[in-house]
Amino acid sequence: MKINRESIHFPSANLLVWYDQEKRDLPWRKTSDPYRIWISEIILQQTRVDQGLPYYHRFLSKFKTVFDLAKATEDEVLKTWEGLGYYSRARNLHFTAKYVVSELNGLFPRDYEGLLALKGVGPYTAAAIGSIAYGLPTAVVDGNVYRVLARFFGIQTSIDETPTQKQIAGLAQEILDKGRPADFNQAVMELGATICTPTGPNCGNCPLRGGCVAVQTNNQACLPIRSKKIKVRTRYFYYLVLFYKGETQVRRRPAGDIWQGLYEFPLIESDASLSDEEILIACNLNSDDVVKSVSDEYVHILSHQRIIARFILVERKKLKNSNYITSAVNKLSSFAFPRLINRYLEKQNFVID
Ligand code: ADE
Repeated sequence: MKINRESIHFPSANLLVWYDQEKRDLPWRKTSDPYRIWISEIILQQTRVDQGLPYYHRFLSKFKTVFDLAKATEDEVLKTWEGLGYYSRARNLHFTAKYVVSELNGLFPRDYEGLLALKGVGPYTAAAIGSIAYGLPTAVVDGNVYRVLARFFGIQTSIDETPTQKQIAGLAQEILDKGRPADFNQAVMELGATICTPTGPNCGNCPLRGGCVAVQTNNQACLPIRSKKIKVRTRYFYYLVLFYKGETQVRRRPAGDIWQGLYEFPLIESDASLSDEEILIACNLNSDDVVKSVSDEYVHILSHQRIIARFILVERKKLKNSNYITSAVNKLSSFAFPRLINRYLEKQNFVID
């Protein structure tokens, strides 16, 4: 079936009526403070609304204003972000807060270009803050928007390709209700999150079903079309958890790799899985070290990497590596660790002395 896109009318009014009735009661929908909206949008790039909410409350009770965030140390920011992943986002938040305070007197730019110039703020976030905080007529385009519009307009080209992305961004801008940009943008995203879901969309309750090409052609499951296969690299991490008399050693992860700025135990990395015997050789243990346990594998999936980790718990008579921080084992919770390490610490229920 050939679709003439020009002839498709997008029922914006239906969408807004639905949104007014069905929208979730969310804290960032009750404020026009650009700081709060910025924080919410960065968190929501990371996680779903229900999972992001506790982080939003935690972050804002710790850093109530952009001045509080600018004053914080990077460790405090990372600790508050701990568990959300993509820690460069937290570092960018911190950088931008400091910039807004030192260069802009604590005031966020009020126009799209100014917002876009902030570190960590791309076209999506600039359009979201602009429309939600200031009512600017700038359409947001995120994964939800790609899906809703690719289905509604029956777009048969891949959303991984730039021309399709441009086409959808153009359509989003065209159909945006310029009188209610904040609500319209959030309505499309809300629809994508709750009705027009990736699998099993609830088309029977969709306010757009009357004009939706995917519904008319029964193509919901095939749209949007994706073409890129993400290459995933597997890395094997062997963490050496050294302890003696209730103390252990950790270090901050350096720049240039995942989890920059978070903490970790001494790490041996390999491209291939090691046997127990190979692990012990690679650890280069001292003759009086006592190996207490070698954990099962902990798997952590990132967008482009799969980390497979094991933890080697070793009692060592003296902890003296000056490249590491010596910490009491019962104070480890004050460090921001990747989720992978926290999973081990929780399971281990760390009481060693
Ligand atoms: N996803 C990201 N930001 C959102 C918002 N403000 N409303 C609904 N879904 C979102």
